[in-house]
Amino acid sequence: MKKKHKILFVCLGNICRSPAAEGVMKALVEEKGVADEWEIDSAGIGGWHVGQQPDRRMLVHARQRGLNLNHRCRQVRATDFEDFDLIIGMDAQNCQDLRMLAPTVEAMDKVQPMSRWLDPAMGYDYVPDPYYEGSEGFELVLDLLQDGCQRLFHGLAHSPGQHQ
Ligand code: 4NP
Repeated sequence: MKKKHKILFVCLGNICRSPAAEGVMKALVEEKGVADEWEIDSAGIGGWHVGQQPDRRMLVHARQRGLNLNHRCRQVRATDFEDFDLIIGMDAQNCQDLRMLAPTVEAMDKVQPMSRWLDPAMGYDYVPDPYYEGSEGFELVLDLLQDGCQRLFHGLAHSPGQHQ
């Protein structure tokens, strides 16, 4: 059997950006008919919202794009660094925090910023936190993620699992 691509998206609270990234990526692999070759999850650096659904505003904006986000907030745990081969932080602070949590140097190398897959023409080298923003903040996150996840998919789809 083919080795799965195992990806964990991480943001600060795990109620806005990373559950959206998870939902966008899951919809993409579903649409391509390769969902069984991918393991996709999300988690937060902080634990303030553990057990909760994504932020209501993100649920609404995602649904407008046909995406149903069904994730329950959870915090990053040490075993994530064994269970996933790519751990993608939404911004530079997320990546810095993840590298601090990584138990080994090999685990540290699994941490990559989402900016690697963002279109430079969109003018962002991170996925901005929409928590204190209005609707346009949530729309921007989804625009960046829908484009970035396409690039991530095409970058990884033809390589074997394990992306270190
Ligand atoms: P997220 O947004 O990192 O995209 O999920 C946030 C959600 C909640 C908080 C911070 C950021 N918070 O501080 O509770």
